[in-house]
Amino acid sequence: MNFQLTEEHLMIRQAARDFAQELWKDVLERDEKAKFPTDHVKKMGELGFLGMMVDPKYGGGGMDAVSYVLAMEEISKVDASVSVIMSVNNSLVCWGLETFANEDQKQRYLTRLATGEIIGAFCLSEPEAGSDATSQRTTAEDKGDHYLLNGTKNWITNGNSAGVYLVMAQTDVSLGHKGINALIVDKNWEGVTVGKKEDKMGIRSSDTHSIMFQDVKVPKENRIGEEGFGFKFAMKTLEGGRIGIASQALGIASGAYELALKYSKERKAFGKEISQHQAIQFKLADMATKVEASRLLCLQAAWLKDNHKSYALASSMAKVFSSETAMWVATEAVQVHGGYGYVREYHVERMMRDAKITQIYEGTSEVQRIVISRNILA
Ligand code: CAA
Repeated sequence: MNFQLTEEHLMIRQAARDFAQELWKDVLERDEKAKFPTDHVKKMGELGFLGMMVDPKYGGGGMDAVSYVLAMEEISKVDASVSVIMSVNNSLVCWGLETFANEDQKQRYLTRLATGEIIGAFCLSEPEAGSDATSQRTTAEDKGDHYLLNGTKNWITNGNSAGVYLVMAQTDVSLGHKGINALIVDKNWEGVTVGKKEDKMGIRSSDTHSIMFQDVKVPKENRIGEEGFGFKFAMKTLEGGRIGIASQALGIASGAYELALKYSKERKAFGKEISQHQAIQFKLADMATKVEASRLLCLQAAWLKDNHKSYALASSMAKVFSSETAMWVATEAVQVHGGYGYVREYHVERMMRDAKITQIYEGTSEVQRIVISRNILA
């Protein structure tokens, strides 16, 4: 692995850092009111952050996964709600389509998604199928030239704001996971209903909904890959998605650490800055070390992906370590801030709430440990 970032990487990181500064001004209000960041998402589309890795011929930025990690970290340092919208669109929706969809599907959907004209959502989880993702109850009955889609998906990021959903559904239950199909579904099709918006602990300004499908006619030409490829599609796509969420967690951790470092040099106690007390110094040392280790794991996973090597193990390692680091660092950042850390305007309490979801979505920490242990024992 080459640890040297290129000029282009540095430029992309700076562009993401500059954009992220714009997020500060209304981040507290959006968090409090659970308000979707419409204007910021539009701007991300204009800046090329919604289809970073997509080939320019489909409207994307043609960048590598390392660039994506760098941009995700910078944006997540300020607002993890904005970055999850970006992550789902880039690594679950655009990457999934670019890698596995046919040319006609790419022409119809990918360009609009990569440019941010519309954003997408990834519909795998169900009320009774979260970690146990093979237990899909949503059905896609084969009706010859189309599938009839019925069921409910839960906790769908971009649930209401998306224009298109990638939906996993069971066509032949007797085949188990080999009977699952991945279907491209337009939000405005008859029978698609957006359910209630979840009132969440963190990432409150991203919109998370349940989505109901009732007798939705999905043309066969909207199936991704061969019949029965849906579960593998979801697993392969999540391998890259986990790099996105790992770098989101990295950004939350590094953002909280930087705020704690700054505050420790301003706040005085017992006659000196609290950064002069060893109790705080040791916290900062541990925070900095864990943030750096997370960064290296994220970059390693991205580098493996860019170099066409296997990255399932690396992305799960990056995700479990970075998300647990985010939770720990954000909690310590609150502690460094003392009473101020417990109130909204200092941001670290929001970061602590935002960090929690990174241990849950796109595979819980426990699921990552399943993937890691299966890989090392294989
Ligand atoms: N690539 C390709 N194929 C894979 C794969 C991968 N990474 N992982 C598994 N498979 C294949 C297996 O080879 C197997 O196929 P065969 O039978 O042909 O060999 C098949 O898939 C079933 O695999 P397992 O037997 O390993 O399945 P399992 O029931 O033991 O489950 C699991 C494995 C890792 C726990 C998986 O179910 C999983 O990842 N669960 C978590 C799901 C998840 O991450 N959900 C996130 C929702 S999306 C989200 O959160 C987005 C958002 O909004 C932010």
